[in-house]
Amino acid sequence: MTALRVGVVGVGAISRFYLAAIERSPDVRLAAVCDPDEAALASLCSPTRRFAGHRAMLDAGGLDAVIVNVPNDLHVRVCTDVIEAGLPVCVEKPLATTTAAGERLASSAHARRVPLFVAFHRRYNEQVLALRARLPLAVPITGMTVRYLERIEDHAGRHAWYLDPERCGGGCVADNGPNAFDLVRLFLGDVTVEEARIDRDARGVDRYARVTLGTAAGATANVELDWSYRYGECKDIEVKLADGSSDRADMLAGCTEFKGSLWHEYAAVMADFISAVRAGARDQASDGIAALRLVAGAYHAERRARIPAQEDGTKRAVAGVVVKVLRHRRDDRGMRLEPYLSRCVRRGELHELVTTDQSDAPPEGRVDRVGFLGFAEIVSAGVIDRGDEVWIGGSRVGTVLGFDACHFPNHYNVLIATDRPRSGSEIGLQPGQALSFRPG
Ligand SMILES: NC(=O)c1ccc[n+]([C@@H]2O[C@H](COP(=O)([O-])OP(=O)(O)OC[C@H]3O[C@@H](n4cnc5c(N)ncnc54)[C@H](O)[C@@H]3O)[C@@H](O)[C@H]2O)c1
Repeated sequence: MTALRVGVVGVGAISRFYLAAIERSPDVRLAAVCDPDEAALASLCSPTRRFAGHRAMLDAGGLDAVIVNVPNDLHVRVCTDVIEAGLPVCVEKPLATTTAAGERLASSAHARRVPLFVAFHRRYNEQVLALRARLPLAVPITGMTVRYLERIEDHAGRHAWYLDPERCGGGCVADNGPNAFDLVRLFLGDVTVEEARIDRDARGVDRYARVTLGTAAGATANVELDWSYRYGECKDIEVKLADGSSDRADMLAGCTEFKGSLWHEYAAVMADFISAVRAGARDQASDGIAALRLVAGAYHAERRARIPAQEDGTKRAVAGVVVKVLRHRRDDRGMRLEPYLSRCVRRGELHELVTTDQSDAPPEGRVDRVGFLGFAEIVSAGVIDRGDEVWIGGSRVGTVLGFDACHFPNHYNVLIATDRPRSGSEIGLQPGQALSFRPG
């Protein structure tokens, strides 16, 4: 059988894993590459044909299949052109940045009878495969956890598109979510999103998320995604079984290099893609679309959790007085908002007032960038709700974001959303000043 002539679109960070897999496989040969970035093309050792764009590469012909390895927002545009050219395509996850666009792409591949293959490389990870092989078939899985923790800046390098929610699709949920969700589906089959909480930075990029998925039979999966992880890289799975036992796989076991497991995973991706091409595979990216639906489901669940309770009626303001001023700020505080949108406060209680610009933090979200205003005594009891306005000495300081209970029952940290984290001394706070929490 002759080797498939493969063209690679995009010569960025991940392409080296494809190029190495192609070089090592007798079943394929690199026939062309394209990238508008001249420096990226120049860095290639291979003597293959080079083009500045995928259309020129397709027009030049001489290809049997194409790998699409470009920023997320370009997947659909490039794949559509490859499919129009009648060529099988292997595209990086996520298939698209919206479910609708992914479905349209799959329909066009179906109409043209062209294999459309999504590269979910983690399902080929040796540790994942070993875990699957070890699990006793007769004992059902009742729960699992998938952790996908890294610092995106360690990967993104000189390309800023990862940190542009429009281009990336959102952040860690849109970009790493598909790989993690695909692993859950590998072990549990079809799942739906039950809950999600997502922390975003000031640019609106989701940097941290916890997503709970469930099967119709009652098994649950917790997926933790972190793009701000400070301790290198952590990608693992834990599986709990109905007999009370559990087992786990560290996807990075034995790898000393950052993303080192990708060498063997992408070799397997290529082998599977080649088989799909040779077999004229008919399944048009159903796993890719399932992953997109779970990404959309996570965003939807998170939005739903932010809608204020419909039962709220009128209420009186909560009054207090400043008893101590604080004057420091931190950007790594790691506060965690309570799941509750409101808290009752009693006369005589003391609570700490903390400002943050992370105004999108959902219930149970993490808050790192904070300014400390000070402590206040409650002089008129009541209910403080997320969204209440905070007034001190006749000025509106911000709105209540939530409550962190790390010092409770001594006191709550009442998080107040402000334009930027502000300390008490910065806004001229004085002991004895009156404050109030008013319905927003
Ligand atoms: N599986 C994983 O672990 C994993 C990891 C990282 C990235 N990815 C996915 O792989 C894809 C590429 O990621 P990356 O980190 O290599 O990105 P990157 O930014 O390092 O590389 C993308 C390359 O595409 C080029 N490019 C842009 N537009 C192009 C076009 N129209 N035609 C040809 N080339 C074009 C850019 O110049 C760049 O060299 C993304 O979809 C990403 O989500 C997967």
